[in-house]
Amino acid sequence: MKATKLAEGVYWVGVIDWNLRDYHGYTLPGTTYNAYLVVGSKHVALIDSAYPGQEYQLLERIKDVIDPKKIDIIVANHVEMDHSGTLPLLTKMLPNVPIYCTEVAVKGLGKHYDTTGWNFKPVKSLDKIELGGKTLVFVEAPMLHWPDSMFTYLAEDKILFPNDAFGQHIASCERFDDELGKDVALAHAQKFFANLIVPLAPRVLKKLDEVTKLGIPIDVVAPSHGIIWRSYAADILGAYVNWSHGVAKNKVTIVYDTMHHSTDRMAQMIAEGVMSEGVAVKVCLLKDGRYEGNHRSNIVSDVLDSKAVLVGSPTLQDEVYPTVADFLSYLHGLQPGRLTHKKIGCAFGSQGGHGGAVAIITECLKKAGIETINDGFEIYYRPDSAELKKCYELGQDIARRVKAM
Ligand code: FEO
Repeated sequence: MKATKLAEGVYWVGVIDWNLRDYHGYTLPGTTYNAYLVVGSKHVALIDSAYPGQEYQLLERIKDVIDPKKIDIIVANHVEMDHSGTLPLLTKMLPNVPIYCTEVAVKGLGKHYDTTGWNFKPVKSLDKIELGGKTLVFVEAPMLHWPDSMFTYLAEDKILFPNDAFGQHIASCERFDDELGKDVALAHAQKFFANLIVPLAPRVLKKLDEVTKLGIPIDVVAPSHGIIWRSYAADILGAYVNWSHGVAKNKVTIVYDTMHHSTDRMAQMIAEGVMSEGVAVKVCLLKDGRYEGNHRSNIVSDVLDSKAVLVGSPTLQDEVYPTVADFLSYLHGLQPGRLTHKKIGCAFGSQGGHGGAVAIITECLKKAGIETINDGFEIYYRPDSAELKKCYELGQDIARRVKAM
């Protein structure tokens, strides 16, 4: 197995997990657990590791560069097991190896593993270590995305190792942004941001501002998942600023499920109304999440770059449809409406009894920070021609509001 060189003495020695398809509710085409080896004239540092049981690839790639026993420094940027899971093995293999991490990470690692005898070296922002011609500088990044998180910066090569931030869940033979293609890389990064980073957007902006004020040049961004940004580092940094502010397109995302195709017909007519105004629309059926486009984790990526979100559901036992409840719960956790640039939305659906789904959705949209334009549109049984016309007009109304935002 081969390591990949980023710069003189700096190597990617990570793990490609081709088979991972679900990661806490996020559907993905595999991922990578990126670890990096920095070889100085005095010390050899390993930055991050990999998921438990993935040590084979990690050690084989390290061996491509150096005898793993020559590693005399470990940097643990983050406690989550996809980046710390091979530490128990590494600490056995390298007794008393110093582990540089935040004070919070010391406690966090102690809750995950038996860390008795581990040689922790807690660090604070701007602490640095010299490896001999290579200087590692640490920047604490609490809640990006766990309390223990930190970034590591390699000064001489201007490489930022920000762990999860700027990552993407993708398993590929390409290691760099220019090999995968800028648009594909950014699309995967957008999905990652939409599913994991959105609720932390204010902290992202604060941290980016702090890093900018430090005046450290960043040529390469080497996250802990996916490709490494070497040609488009400025693009991913800029994208994070835009996504954190909620900058969106003139686009409407319509998300719904249907029992007997009544809510489906409403969704189609709303979409026609949106398109008639020259505004982009994405229609997402929640029917079966095994299909890529129907999965909540793909839909929220569309929600992120849409100015409007409409959610539809039939009423079932006085409640929303189970798939819609799942989506609304996910949306509530992410809070995509609470970014600088607001989102608008509304609810729609069909009912054959007491109704109620539309009122529930309207409240859920509000809780996710989305400004509802009305109390929603609920019809009885099948939509008749007058009601379908109203759906079309609702789409037009939403589209006009989007263009005015
Ligand atoms: Fe990729 Fe927070 O772990």
